[in-house]
Amino acid sequence: MKTYPLQTNVNGLQGDITVPGDKSISHRSVMFGAVAQGKTTVTGFLMGEDCLSTVACFKQLGVKIEQNEEKMVIYGNGWDGLQEPCEVLNVGNSGTTIRLMMGILAGRDFHTTLIGDSSIGKRPMTRVTIPLSQMGAKIEGRQNGEYTPLSIRGGGIHGITYKAPVASAQVKSSILLAGLQAEGTTTVIEPEKSRDHTERMIRQFGGIVEEDGLAVSVRGGQPLRGTDVHVPGDISSAAFFLVAGAIVPNSIIRLKNVGLNPTRTGIIDVMQEMGADITITMQEDSLTEPIGDMTIKASALKGTVIGGDVIPRLIDEIPIIALLATQAEGTTIIKDAAELKVKETNRIDTVVNELAKLGAAIEATEDGMIIHGKQALSGGTVSSHGDHRIGMMLAVAALICKEEVALEGKDAISVSYPQFFDHLASLL
Ligand code: S3P
Repeated sequence: MKTYPLQTNVNGLQGDITVPGDKSISHRSVMFGAVAQGKTTVTGFLMGEDCLSTVACFKQLGVKIEQNEEKMVIYGNGWDGLQEPCEVLNVGNSGTTIRLMMGILAGRDFHTTLIGDSSIGKRPMTRVTIPLSQMGAKIEGRQNGEYTPLSIRGGGIHGITYKAPVASAQVKSSILLAGLQAEGTTTVIEPEKSRDHTERMIRQFGGIVEEDGLAVSVRGGQPLRGTDVHVPGDISSAAFFLVAGAIVPNSIIRLKNVGLNPTRTGIIDVMQEMGADITITMQEDSLTEPIGDMTIKASALKGTVIGGDVIPRLIDEIPIIALLATQAEGTTIIKDAAELKVKETNRIDTVVNELAKLGAAIEATEDGMIIHGKQALSGGTVSSHGDHRIGMMLAVAALICKEEVALEGKDAISVSYPQFFDHLASLL
């Protein structure tokens, strides 16, 4: 397999970075724009492969979408404006696209077939197909609806109260999107709070959502109106530079316009607890998503225990937090994170195996990992396994490696951060 040489042995990263738009919010802006009535203009949209898969799927569903640079203009014609597609919809690598779109299609009285890449083909779907079937959608899929290809015929659905077995914003959002089209009220109760971008966006598009502790409810039949959406920078992308700044000696990096929604900022809490020097300046309060600038300086770090309700607030950042922990004095335990096994790769295995290749003292557990620090990293050939966040984590790891590091599967990074290597180079 083709390998890409990574920058190693770096002594100091300095500069300012504006990370690309938030992936979760970019997906939702197109989806809500597509089902709302009227024009939606999205600025700061993430032009990564995952979000472009969402755009392509909605075009196939008959929605007019114009794209230029970082702007998307969506001309929604309401839920009834969606049309039965002639071809299979392909979501590529994107779990958010397929799970949220299933919720939208559950309310549409037509037939759709959905497929994705080989990683999507291994990701569990009954977490959405079971509740959506309970609401009345007709769904078939490989292994009783667990895996793609999936086919769905929606329409005539009714509200349910669903106690979700896992804290998952994709599951919650899928059910709420179906709920907006259902007869009566739909309630999702989560075990822990997951990211709330869908709830915020329903309000931004003129809808009503009720929240009561861990329960979120919507009424069906509410009109949604097109609007302007500004997508903040993705904290999950900023995370790679937060950790790079903390572990590469003599670094100081400023990250501008980052989304700081409290359901996403678990990494900041954990890094500060570990001793990282992070300063945050919040921008003026916006009605939709909080935004701020962050400055990170190289810091002395200590190990910690990460588990419980912070996990959904940092689930996508665990690969890069594991790297951080290799540079912290003492032991770090990551637990309650079995969800990592069903991400783009099994991220317990891919993180542990790839970091171990670089000399980290790290072991897998049933629901997380244990990392012993502080451990100097050596070098070698590593692989993203087609997982964007594993690829970026390894590129940051290489910065502190003493020997050469080669990366297999570099292209996966364009799923969420196409400019990643350019931004990294600008700090050298
Ligand atoms: C996402 C939710 C999370 C996250 C994913 C994006 C979303 O997944 O890992 O990258 O946009 O709703 P789960 O809902 O499976 O936890």
